[in-house]
Amino acid sequence: MYGNVAIDGPAGAGKSTAARMVAERLGYIYIDTGAMYRALTWKVLNSGSRWDDEEIIRLAAVTKIEFSLDEQGGLQTICDGSDVSREIRERNVSANVSRIARIAGVRRRMVELQRRMAAQKPVVMDGRDIGSFVLPDAPHKFFLIASLEERTRRRCRQMEEQGIDFDRSQVSADIKARDEMDRSRTVAPLVQAADAKLIDTDCLTLHQVVALIIKEIRGE
Ligand code: CDP
Ligand code: CDP
Repeated sequence: MYGNVAIDGPAGAGKSTAARMVAERLGYIYIDTGAMYRALTWKVLNSGSRWDDEEIIRLAAVTKIEFSLDEQGGLQTICDGSDVSREIRERNVSANVSRIARIAGVRRRMVELQRRMAAQKPVVMDGRDIGSFVLPDAPHKFFLIASLEERTRRRCRQMEEQGIDFDRSQVSADIKARDEMDRSRTVAPLVQAADAKLIDTDCLTLHQVVALIIKEIRGE
């Protein structure tokens, strides 16, 4: 066994797709921490709650977030027993998630859940603060980046494939705004851990990224 793998980086850098494939190759559990913040955001948006930090922290404490696999082996995000995998990708959730993820009490709760998951079995975990904060002792850390143009292109292609309408300049502006909020928050911001390997994915295919990560983990 190689130990836990942490993959961080900005939106659209290819973290979750690569992390899922690396987990499959190693026989590890994949944990999508962004989906956890998204699930809580979805719940807040649909609960009619006030946008008040104390209220959101209270909701976070009583929200159950789990992962399961569907028949095709796809990751499902389960919030309080309901599959919210589709809903958490909606624009309204994307536009509000960073506002919720900046709340210290929310992060405390999510990090506690994430560490508990990683204590059970070896994991590949992706997010913003995994290498720098959630799993500081993970022996394998990666920080994926790509230009804003490339990340916008990828997100638009993803939406095209899913039949979702989009405006390219809006997608780009949304990604930029979310990155800025994630980088500038006081608690566990988006940052490359000192011991993380930087991978610029601009000119790499997904398979090349995965091959690089696997090679590094195996020490080849
Ligand atoms: O898939 P995408 O890169 O667009 O985002 P995500 O990984 O689903 O994460 C959604 C949001 O959750 C991020 O923009 C952050 O605000 C927050 N997040 C976080 O604060 N810490 C993490 N470990 C993961 C996500
Ligand atoms: O999780 P994150 O927001 O970092 O990105 P993602 O959702 O894994 O990747 C966004 C899209 O970019 C996916 O459709 C990937 O297949 C694609 N991608 C790519 O085309 N080339 C790469 N080197 C990495 C990702």
